[in-house]
Amino acid sequence: MDRRLFLSSTMTSGMIAATSSIPATAAAAAALEAGGLTQATIATPALVVDLDAFEANVNKMAEHCRQAKCGFRPHAKTHKCPAIAQRQMAAGALGICAATVPEAEALAAAGIRGVLLTSPIVDVGKIGRMVALASSGADVMLSIGNQKQPVLLAEAAEAAKVDLAVLVDLDVGDRRTGILPGEPAVELARQIARSKRLQIKGVQAYAGHASHTVGFEARQKVSREAIGKAVETKKLLVKAGFDAQILSGGSTGTYNIDSAIDGMTELQVGSYVFMDVDYRRIGGSDGQTVYADFQPSLTVLTTVVSATHADRVSIDAGTKALDTTTTNRPEAKSWPGLAYAKFGDEFGGLTSEGGGKLPALGERLEFIVPHCDPNVNLYDRLYACRGDKVEAIWPVAARREYSRG
Ligand SMILES: Cc1ncc(COP(=O)(O)O)c(C=O)c1O
Repeated sequence: MDRRLFLSSTMTSGMIAATSSIPATAAAAAALEAGGLTQATIATPALVVDLDAFEANVNKMAEHCRQAKCGFRPHAKTHKCPAIAQRQMAAGALGICAATVPEAEALAAAGIRGVLLTSPIVDVGKIGRMVALASSGADVMLSIGNQKQPVLLAEAAEAAKVDLAVLVDLDVGDRRTGILPGEPAVELARQIARSKRLQIKGVQAYAGHASHTVGFEARQKVSREAIGKAVETKKLLVKAGFDAQILSGGSTGTYNIDSAIDGMTELQVGSYVFMDVDYRRIGGSDGQTVYADFQPSLTVLTTVVSATHADRVSIDAGTKALDTTTTNRPEAKSWPGLAYAKFGDEFGGLTSEGGGKLPALGERLEFIVPHCDPNVNLYDRLYACRGDKVEAIWPVAARREYSRG
């Protein structure tokens, strides 16, 4: 690196550190820093967004939903980033889903309306924070899939004198969260309705067992069966006198299946903005083995830091930088034939699968991550790049602070 570049990169990172305790100026400092950066000067490992691919994904999903006459409320569990949520809203989203209370808080703080907390919460601290959000004027909705939550929510909402919109969360086959569809869901709705503060707006049905089913025909079968149960339950709720208009659910893997189902009102798609290796392997509706409806826009930028051996090199991205909790391995974006192996916390090992050339010491490589959501959760910032130039630095503002839930 030449002296001028070295000085500008060290000075700007010092500037960020100096201002990071002043939230009002953090965004301005990040913009200033981004102004001087290119991909060649970002300190690695770093999380990089290819803006052209990202914007194409945001627009493609929005256009699909417009044509299918289905709404979409994208899931922020993927990006935890209000700057991205704002772009999804600008593309026509009805609101944004949150998996955690900190995500809901960060989205509301950024002025996002229609924030739906999709996870159950059953402790008074988290319930209190969601009620406080609603009391502050934030437009939030909660999903309820168990019998404890309405009791706690009703109590907190009554104490705060605030009304809360809720969806009945259904377990439509993945056995993770939610009440069983049909009569158990109607019974739960009756319990919820005992509080005048809780207003039922519809149902939520996420089918995690459908999203990554390999092969389009098989995926279609699983998803139609799952969402079919939600459609029927929504009808039962209406028959029982509830104003159940919303059916919120679906995923990146089933967006083009679920949006065609009569009664589905909105998609909770998440990964489509970034994509990852796990999703690329589920196969497309065109019969191809690679699911290419959306482009990989998220990568981890790494540097080769050791090339002592002829048959392998080491990069500066181990398990602290690349999430490898699923079975797939990171894939080098522009270097076919490289195999990534875990080398502990700080390093990854690269070997050549077909005997081809290995990258040299100091070479920079981008990797498509196995699973985008947990990988984003490892970083505080996303470098949004147009070609080689860093156009913006987006804080991962809602990154899970485990101590705060
Ligand atoms: C509740 C909920 N909705 C929607 C999604 C869809 O996400 P994706 O599009 O990334 O599969 C998920 C993913 O885990 C989820 O948990």
